[in-house]
Order: sequence, then C-alpha cells, then structure tokens
Amino acid sequence: MGLIIIYEALMYLLVLLFNCAVAQVSGSSDLICSTKALSVWPGDDVILPCRLQPPLSAESMRVEWSRPDLEPGFIHVHQDGRFLYELQNPHYNYRTSLFVDQLPNGNVSLKLSRVTQSDAGTYRCSLPSVQQEASVQLSVGSEVIGSDQPVQAVVGDDVILPCHMEPLVDVTTLAVEWTTRNGAVVHKYKSQKDDTDIQNDQFKGRTSLFHDEMHKGNISLKLTNVTLTDAGNYTCSVRKRLQKKKDNVELFVDSIDKKGRDVNSKTTALTAGLTVPAVVILIAGVVAGLIWWKRQRKYRQNVTKCRKQISPLWDK
Ligand SMILES: *[C@@H]1O[C@H](CO)[C@@H](O)[C@H](O)[C@H]1NC(C)=O
Ligand SMILES: *[C@@H]1O[C@H](CO)[C@@H](O)[C@H](O)[C@H]1NC(C)=O
Ligand SMILES: *[C@@H]1O[C@H](CO)[C@@H](O)[C@H](O)[C@H]1NC(C)=O
Ligand SMILES: *[C@@H]1O[C@H](CO)[C@@H](O)[C@H](O)[C@H]1NC(C)=O
Repeated sequence: MGLIIIYEALMYLLVLLFNCAVAQVSGSSDLICSTKALSVWPGDDVILPCRLQPPLSAESMRVEWSRPDLEPGFIHVHQDGRFLYELQNPHYNYRTSLFVDQLPNGNVSLKLSRVTQSDAGTYRCSLPSVQQEASVQLSVGSEVIGSDQPVQAVVGDDVILPCHMEPLVDVTTLAVEWTTRNGAVVHKYKSQKDDTDIQNDQFKGRTSLFHDEMHKGNISLKLTNVTLTDAGNYTCSVRKRLQKKKDNVELFVDSIDKKGRDVNSKTTALTAGLTVPAVVILIAGVVAGLIWWKRQRKYRQNVTKCRKQISPLWDK
C-alpha cells in the first residue's frame, strides 16, 4: 500500500519535471492565431493575426509562414532579423511583411497585400525554436447567399427575405441593393446609410435592413404589410468597387389574411354588389317590356278594329 503511494508520488514528480522542461523549451508561451476564418475581397490587404501568449519576444526566433498545399511552401521566412527572400514562393513576391517592430511583443502576424483569388487557403505559422505552430484560414471573395426556399407570406404580413454573405464579411461599408426581377429598386444602402431617393414607390416606407447585423454579413430585408403585388423574385446584391455579387429570393403571397378571411372574397362581394342591381334592372326591364308589349297589342287590336270600321269609306 505504502509502496504504491510512493510510486504514484514519484510518477507525479516525474510528470511535473517533464512538463517544466517542455515549458522551458517553449518558453511556456503558446502561439495563438485567429481561429475564425478571415475573408477578404480580391485586391484588399489582410493581416493574418498570430501572437505568442503570454507575450514572449520573437525577435531572435525563426518565424516561418507557409502554405502546406504549395510547392515551394514558404510564404515568408524571417530569421536573424531579416526576411529570407530566396525561400519565398514567387507568387507572394513583394506582397508579404511581418510587423518587425512588433516582434518583441510576440506579435508575428503576417500582412498580405493585394490579395488574389488563389491566395485562399490555410496559412501555417511556425516557430521551430519554441516548437509552436498554428494555422489561419483565409478565404477570398465572399458569396451572396439568398434562399432556395421561397418565402411564404399572407397579405398584411411582415416578412424577412433572407440573404447573407458566406463566409461572413462585414458589409457596412459596401453598397447593398435589393431589386425586383424587372429592376425596380426595393431598398438601397450606400455610404453607410439607407438611400431612399431612388426607391420604387411600391416599397416606400415598408423596407429595412438589419443595420446591427450587417457587420456579420447579414443583408436580409424586412418588408412590412405585404401585398399581392409584392409576390415575385427579389435579388439581393453587394457591390464593392466594380465587383458585384448577387443571389435571389422568391416571395409567395397568399390572399388568405390573418383572420382566415379570403381577400379574394372582397372581389366576390364586389361582383355580388354589382350583380344584384343588374338583376333587378333586368327583371324590371323584362316586366316593363311585357307591359309595353301587352299595351302595344291592345293598341294594335284597337287600330285594326278602327280600320275595319272605316275601311268601307276608304275603299271608296
Ligand atoms: C500585431 O501588430 C499589427 C501591426 O501593429 C496589429 O495590426 C495587430 O493587431 C497586432 N496583432 C496582435 C495579435 O496583437
Ligand atoms: C439576419 O438578421 C435577422 C434579424 O435579426 C435574422 O432574423 C436572420 O436570421 C439573420 N440572418 C442570418 C443569416 O444571420
Ligand atoms: C397595409 O396596406 C394597406 C393597403 O395595401 C393599407 O390599407 C393598410 O393601412 C396598411 N397597413 C399598415 C399597418 O400600414
Ligand atoms: C422566380 O425565379 C424562379 C427561378 O428562377 C422561377 O422558377 C420562377 O418562375 C420565378 N417566379 C416569378 C414570379 O417570376
């Protein structure tokens, strides 16, 4: 029993010592990179954030940024205070930099300039001297995603036409526009505010975007008091400089309103409203016609009678 306790205590001590040794080698700092995928538009610059936590100077370390899927794989290697240009994949020439003045703070973030579509991928940062390694995902050019499922609504409803950016990207500084199939402007947002000047009259005062959701790439449209004429296809689009991305959402509008009444019954009632007087007029007309016809017959009979009486005189 006592032996087991001594053995366990010894093992514990050994594990502790081993951990200390590893911590000493790695300087007990971890390399932390952005865990959320970064998304940028082609042509933009991006910072791939990575740092040693707690802060530990990386000034004298070899810092390797690489893309395991490329050959050669090195994007940027920094050692002995200089950038090793000769190791760099030529696709990245003149487009990468470290924040050299930030290395003493353990900030080993990489700046990548003038991003292109082919820059999308997984970037690995390695600090061999402290055996640390971490990755950052970069995607280029978010897509606008509308909805494959049509949105169903009933006349008088408020609806949300869903649309968002994937991967998520902040759209607050971009131009967002909702249009109908035939190009009518439903809602326009530009220079960080709604632009109602060119909005189609059909939608005046009935549309809004979720401004506090736009930094998350949410460009869903709220449309209030839906009418039958609102039914159809809508396009949500995002524009940055000359690039435009868009997708569609279809809106179905039912005429059964919230109280279960059929809005079409209004037209039925309207037709009924017209029919009743029409029938009355028709009947009245028929009756009048009959009376007239009867009178006419009586008159003709009288005329014939008269003629018969005076005809002998005429014949003369
Ligand atoms: C690293 O430094 C750059 C440039 O000063 C800064 O933009 C970035 O936020 C820093 N990153 C971290 C993780 O501190
Ligand atoms: C966008 O915001 C609206 C309103 O908060 C919400 O209903 C909708 O689910 C959001 N869409 C996404 C994709 O987050
Ligand atoms: C909804 O629209 C109808 C006409 O389309 C209008 O009569 C009604 O007042 C509107 N309701 C609201 C709450 O704006
Ligand atoms: C909307 O678009 C879909 C797919 O493009 C099409 O099938 C549908 O007929 C369109 N609806 C209207 C009302 O134009």
